[in-house]
Amino acid sequence: MTEAILLVGGQGTRLRPLTSHIPKPLLPVAGVPFLTHQLARAAEAGVTRIVFATSYLADLFEEEFGDGSRLGLHLEYVSEETALGTGGAIRNAAARLRSAPDEPVLVFNGDIISGVDIAALRDGHRASGADVTLHLKRVADPRAFGLVPTDADGRVEAFLEKPQTPEEITTDQINAGCYVFTRSVIDRIPPGRAVSVERETFPQLLASGAHVRGVVDDGYWLDLGTPAAFVQGSADLVRGRIASPALPGPVGDALVLPGARVHPRALLSGGTVVAAGAVVAEGAVVEGSVVMTGAHIAARASVHASVVGRHASIGEGSVLNAVVVGDGAEVTEGNELPPGLRIACGARLPAHGIRTSASPVTCTAQGIAHSGVPHASPAAH
Ligand code: GDD
Ligand code: MG
Repeated sequence: MTEAILLVGGQGTRLRPLTSHIPKPLLPVAGVPFLTHQLARAAEAGVTRIVFATSYLADLFEEEFGDGSRLGLHLEYVSEETALGTGGAIRNAAARLRSAPDEPVLVFNGDIISGVDIAALRDGHRASGADVTLHLKRVADPRAFGLVPTDADGRVEAFLEKPQTPEEITTDQINAGCYVFTRSVIDRIPPGRAVSVERETFPQLLASGAHVRGVVDDGYWLDLGTPAAFVQGSADLVRGRIASPALPGPVGDALVLPGARVHPRALLSGGTVVAAGAVVAEGAVVEGSVVMTGAHIAARASVHASVVGRHASIGEGSVLNAVVVGDGAEVTEGNELPPGLRIACGARLPAHGIRTSASPVTCTAQGIAHSGVPHASPAAH
């Protein structure tokens, strides 16, 4: 038996408004809730039981995945009343583990898509006798991550979460958000309070001389925390740049899910997904984008690297590039939207300027409800 803890309690703030009512790991990516890809890969690698460490919108995870039998897994759910941070969440979830003190336990961040060989990571951990093994990745700009320099033998020398100054950037190796802990090490994390595994647990383990290994793997890896990464991850899965046993259709230039209607003279490319009930009309061009359930792209609209939320509509001839359109929002005809714009759920963008909808709507986990005050706001992408 191999057990894992999955960290899925974060609020996904950088993906708002998409995450206002759906937690980031449940957003549809390449046609299925994002986490399905990661769970299917874990099952393939021999993971049998996974404890979900939830907090934000906790109930939705069990509603989606149930006991896990559909994926060949046993799933359990633990919810934090107030978020305990990554380390506190791991400690809290460990109450449900069955592994013996010397057995390896995998821990995953819930917003990563990665091709790392999970079984090899676990087996290497066991063979080395390490306390913790970290999957590391080399990136061009490590500022948004945890920096993890290692020595010639792969021993971790330091752990610095989100470096603040250029002098602090001493390596291009970052924490890729997948760990193997020897179970007894998890049990030493203080219980009942917020703990950051990155800012507290790893630095303390290193200070105490613990054996912390880093394994650099330069295969496919992406943190889906930003809109740009979200659309890229979805498109990469659709085009087969990263394999997933959970992809609900053949690899190709676009994925059109059952119940979607795409006009024969519309052009889909770049790994676009069109979900059930969505419509793409004549002459529309949709490239590298995610078109969610029930959305409507009118004739000759042009949508690039964007997310069109559930039941949102894009008017005739409108042009979107790197835009996030919240659920139920309406972009009327002839709009050209600046890159990075995020449109709140239910907002209405007339041809010139932004004003609120006559019939305001807000997003809910189930769909669209009428109430609330919509708005649109430009935001960094
Ligand atoms: N249960 C629970 N409780 N989960 C949490 C909590 C919490 O209080 N806080 C965060 N999480 C979960 C998130 O849902 C996510 O799956 C994971 O922990 C990491 O949180 P993020 O908010 O996505 O962190 P990050 O992307 O800024 O940084 C982390 O990931 C990077 C790799 O993508 C760190 O681990 C970095 O060191 C790492 O480089
Ligand atoms: Mg993240």
